[in-house]
Amino acid sequence: MQKNDRLFVQCVIIVFFIFNFFSLQARSPRRIRDPYIPSITCRWVDSCQTYTLTNEHLDWYPFFKLFNKDFFQDHLLPEGTVAFRYEKTKSVDTQVLKEQIDVLCAEIKQKKRKYTYFTVLQAKDFNRRKGNGLLIVKFKEYPFVVKMFIERPETFVSPYHKGFEPIFFFYLGGGMNRHLAGFTRIKNLELIKERVAQSSFWQQRVDFPRKWYWLPCDVPWIEIVGKNMMGAGTTSITQIPGTYCIVADVIEAKHTMSILDPAEDKGTILNLCNYLNLWIDPHLNNFMIEKYTGKLVLLDTEHFASNVGFKEPLEFHSYLSWYLHLAGKFMQNTFGQNKRVRRNHERPLPCMVLT
Ligand SMILES: Nc1ncnc2c1ncn2[C@@H]1O[C@H](COP(=O)(O)OP(=O)(O)O)[C@@H](O)[C@H]1O
Ligand SMILES: [Mg+2]
Repeated sequence: MQKNDRLFVQCVIIVFFIFNFFSLQARSPRRIRDPYIPSITCRWVDSCQTYTLTNEHLDWYPFFKLFNKDFFQDHLLPEGTVAFRYEKTKSVDTQVLKEQIDVLCAEIKQKKRKYTYFTVLQAKDFNRRKGNGLLIVKFKEYPFVVKMFIERPETFVSPYHKGFEPIFFFYLGGGMNRHLAGFTRIKNLELIKERVAQSSFWQQRVDFPRKWYWLPCDVPWIEIVGKNMMGAGTTSITQIPGTYCIVADVIEAKHTMSILDPAEDKGTILNLCNYLNLWIDPHLNNFMIEKYTGKLVLLDTEHFASNVGFKEPLEFHSYLSWYLHLAGKFMQNTFGQNKRVRRNHERPLPCMVLT
């Protein structure tokens, strides 16, 4: 997020938390807690130590729908060589990339600040000491970026210890977090590419980096058991990788987008997002104007409708209306749920469910 945008979101969250604080104070300690509040319990698949989060805002969808093992495996970084995006005659054996990613994982475990084969592009959602979160790095020798997602059972059930933005998405997206949202990035990329190809206007102007999943060696898996997630008394179970990454083409920018860009350019981005049914996040730093082609390239292909739990198609014609809608939805989700909704009987799924 840009500095001003983040400030705005942070102010909204602080005000709501103050309200929430006072409402919690008013609750009688003798009042019995609803036994049908949804919960998730996580553990490493080879361990008995469990960690539980019980919270009325947890939805079944982000935890039990977004990770599809077959889809994930079909989209792994292939064996053999991959050609570079800009110098098409050059390529690299993916085995070299995989080995360097394994070294990165080892260096993250050692809590290193600098990495042998990578430079850091973004670490705002990464906790170096705990070694969890989302770290975005670029290979020093090859034109690819790596988005490394790391969670452990105890961090997975702690949405309140990761900063303001994760809390915001937790309430908006029914427990959504960066790790789960990463599982939407390639499926959604495919959907967006298809939709862009259907428009003679957008197909001339918009492009995307290629993306592949990768599981570094010895990845531990997390088991998630959900209670009351599909309605009172239900149990759901799944397993997800505790560490995985996305390898993507590096995009070289002629121009990175910001709030200072002309209204016309920001309007183009909002038009694209509306055309794509808000499946993508309109945030300006998710876009670049590419150096060699002048095309608008979308870097961040997270399924935004899932991130913020949009239940019906929406359109926005200014960034202000987009922010206000998100702030209003946050307030509604956080403070406006009655007991029936909290028990999660008939919660509608986001408007564009990824299958
Ligand atoms: N393929 C890419 N090429 C170049 N830079 C990238 C690429 N992907 C991400 N980045 C850089 O990392 C930043 C964050 O990436 P993004 O996928 O939007 O992550 P987040 O989910 O944290 O918003 C981008 O704003 C951009 O600066
Ligand atoms: Mg982004």
